[in-house]
Amino acid sequence: MSLHANAEEVISITSEIVQELQSLEGPMLPILNEIQDHFGFVPQDSLPVIADKLNLSKAEVHGVVSFYHDYRSEPAGDHVVKICRAEACQSMGVNALSEKLLSLLGIGWGETSENGKVTVEATYCLGLCACAPAAMVDGKLVARLDDAKIEALAKEVSQ
Ligand code: FES
Repeated sequence: MSLHANAEEVISITSEIVQELQSLEGPMLPILNEIQDHFGFVPQDSLPVIADKLNLSKAEVHGVVSFYHDYRSEPAGDHVVKICRAEACQSMGVNALSEKLLSLLGIGWGETSENGKVTVEATYCLGLCACAPAAMVDGKLVARLDDAKIEALAKEVSQ
C-alpha cells in the first residue's frame, strides 16, 4: 500500500492495473479492487484513466466507486473497523452499539480519527448473522458484539 503516491505515479500504476485486467468480463470491479489494494483507497486521479481505457465517462466510473461502500476515496486509518448494518445485526441492536463506538472514538461513519488510528465503516452482512451483531476488525471477524466488546474495541484501536 503506497499512501504517498503522487498524481503521476497514480496514473502510471492505474494504467498498468487497467491494462492487466481490462480483458476480463466486467473488468471495473476487479480493477477498482486492485487499485484499492495497492493504494489503500481509490485515488481521484485513477478515475479518468479507468474511464478512458474502458471507454466510459468519468461520471460513470465515479458512480460505481460511490455505489460500493467498500471503496474509499481517502486513505484509511491504521485500524479499519467494519460494522455490519444489515438486518440481522440491526435486529440484535447494532445501531446502539455502533453509535457508542463512534462516540467513544469521536468520529462518524466512514471517518478516520484525527490521530489517524482508526476508520469506522459500514458493511452489509459479513455472513455471521447467526452470531449477530458482527464486525470485522483489521480483517478479523468479531461476533456477538456487546457493550463490553465495544468498549474494549474502542480502546484497542485507539492505541
Ligand atoms: S446481517 Fe450482519 S452478519 Fe449478516
